[in-house]
Amino acid sequence: MKGSFYITTPIYYVNDIPHIGHAYTTIAADVVARYKRMDGYDVFFLTGTDEHGQKIEKTARSLGEEPKALADRVVVRFKELWKKLLISNDDFIRTTEPRHRRAVEHLFKKVMEKGDIYLGEYEDWYCIPCETFWTEKELIDFKCPSCGRQTDRLKEESYFFRMSRYQEQLLRHIEANPDFIQPPSKRNEIISFVKDGLRDLSVSRKNLEWGIPVPGNPEHTIYVWFDALTNYLTAVGYPDNKVLFEKFWPADIHLIGKDILRFHSVYWPTFLISAELPLPRQVYAHGWWTVEGRKMSKSLGNVVDPSEMADRFGVDQFRYFLLREISFGLDGDYSLSAFVKRINSDLANDLGNLVSRVLTMVERFHGRRLRKPAILCATLEQGFNRVVKEFREAMDTLSFQKALVSIWEFINLTNKYIDENQPWNLAKDPSRRNELDVVLYGGCEALRVIALMIAPFMPLSSQKIWESLGYSSPVKKQRYDESLKWGLLNDGVEVIRPEPIFPRVEKE
Ligand code: MSP
Repeated sequence: MKGSFYITTPIYYVNDIPHIGHAYTTIAADVVARYKRMDGYDVFFLTGTDEHGQKIEKTARSLGEEPKALADRVVVRFKELWKKLLISNDDFIRTTEPRHRRAVEHLFKKVMEKGDIYLGEYEDWYCIPCETFWTEKELIDFKCPSCGRQTDRLKEESYFFRMSRYQEQLLRHIEANPDFIQPPSKRNEIISFVKDGLRDLSVSRKNLEWGIPVPGNPEHTIYVWFDALTNYLTAVGYPDNKVLFEKFWPADIHLIGKDILRFHSVYWPTFLISAELPLPRQVYAHGWWTVEGRKMSKSLGNVVDPSEMADRFGVDQFRYFLLREISFGLDGDYSLSAFVKRINSDLANDLGNLVSRVLTMVERFHGRRLRKPAILCATLEQGFNRVVKEFREAMDTLSFQKALVSIWEFINLTNKYIDENQPWNLAKDPSRRNELDVVLYGGCEALRVIALMIAPFMPLSSQKIWESLGYSSPVKKQRYDESLKWGLLNDGVEVIRPEPIFPRVEKE
C-alpha cells in the first residue's frame, strides 16, 4: 500500500431528486477513487445526503410531509442511482444520523471553547435555496447573487463565529499551498474574496427546528452549512474513532461544484483552524453543465435524469461522455446529439472496432490461442510508453479529459498499426507467420493496457475486454505499478471474442 487517500463529494440536498449535476461530481469522484485504488492507495470514498435546514423543512411542509419522511424517501433515490452508476463509495453519510449529530456538537463545542463563538444579533438577508447569509450590498436587485432568487430579510438573535480572526492565517495558507484550491482561476477568486475582508459568520438560526440544537441553548439550531461540512469528519470517525480518523484525516480532495466553493475554501478551513484540526489538502471546484445551451431548471423542464440516460445509452457510455466532453473545472453543455456522437465515434468506432477486429483475427488466424513472439513490436511499445506517462500525469491532476484523449490517441495508433500491417494478408503467407504473431500480439497487448487505463472510467466494458483476454480476475484488482508495463500477456492465452461492447446508436 502506498498510503491512505480520502476523497469526498458534496452531500446532496434531499429536497430534489438527483440530476446530471449530482451525477457528474459523484462519477468524477468515483473515477478518482477507482484510479487511486489501482494505484495502490487505501482509499476512503465518501458521499451522502444533506438533510437538515430550512430548505428541506420548507419543501417537506409544502408537500405535507415531515422533513425526516422526505429525507427517507429521497435518500433512496440517491442510493439507487449510485448503485446503477457503479459508484464505489465506501460509506454513505446522512446528516440525520446520530454519529453525525455527535460530531457536529463536538466540533461546535471545540470552537466555542476556543472563544470563537459569541451571541449577537443578525440583521441582513438570507437565501433559503442556497442556505446563505448575504449583506444588502451583496444582493443584486434584492435577489440572491448566487442563484438569483428571492431573499428574506432576517433579524434575529444568532450565534456568530469569529471568522474575521482567521483571515490572515487562511490567506497565508492559500498562498503557501498552491494546490489547496483548484483550478487556479477559482483560487484567485477566493484569494481576492478573503483579501476583501472576512466578516464574522452567523452559525445558528432561531425559529428553525429542523436541525441540530446548539449545545447549551436549544432555542438555536446550528447553521446547516456548519452541520453539513462536518460530515467530512463524521464519516472518518470524529471524534471517537481516533484510529480511523488519523488514518484518513485530512481529506485529500473535497470534490465540489463551483457554486459551493466559498463554503469549502473559506468557512470550512476557518472552522477547522479554530478547532485545531488539519485542513483538507485540496478543494477542487468543477464547472457547471447547461443543457442544450440553456440553464438546467425545473421550470424549463430540461432537467437531465442520469438514471434514464444510463438505461437508454449504457452506464459506461454516460460516465465516459461526462468526463470526456468537457475539461474538468470548466463549464460545458450537455446535448443529446453530442452524446450520441461520442458513443458512435469514440466508443463504437474507435474502441469497439479495435476490440472486435483484434480478437476476431486471433480467433481466425490463431485458433484463439495467442502467440507471443520473441521480439515485440516497437511502434506500439513506444506509443504505450507515451500514453502511460500522459495518463498518469493527467489522472494525478484530475485532468480526465486529457487522460481520455491520450488513451484514444493510443487506440487510434493501434488501429492505424493494424491497417498498415494488414494481418489478413500476412495470414495468407506462411513465411510471414512471425510478423503476423507480432502484429496480433501487439494488438492484444494494446487491448490489455487500454482495459487497465479505462477501468476507472468504464468499469463494465473494461472488465469485458479484460475477460476477453483470458483473465478471470477483476480488472479493478490490478495494480498499475505492476500491470501497466508492456509485454505481460502470456504465450498461449486463450482469447474470447465478446459481443459488441458498444452498440451504435441510431439517431431518432
Ligand atoms: N448540500 C449542499 C452541499 C453540502 S457539502 C458539505 C449542496 N447540495 S446540492 O444538492 O444543491 O448540490 C450538490 C452539487 O451539485 C454541487 O456541487 C453543485 O455544484 C452540483 N450541481 C448542481 N447543478 C449542477 C450543474 N448543472 N452542473 C454541474 N454541477 C451542478 O449544495
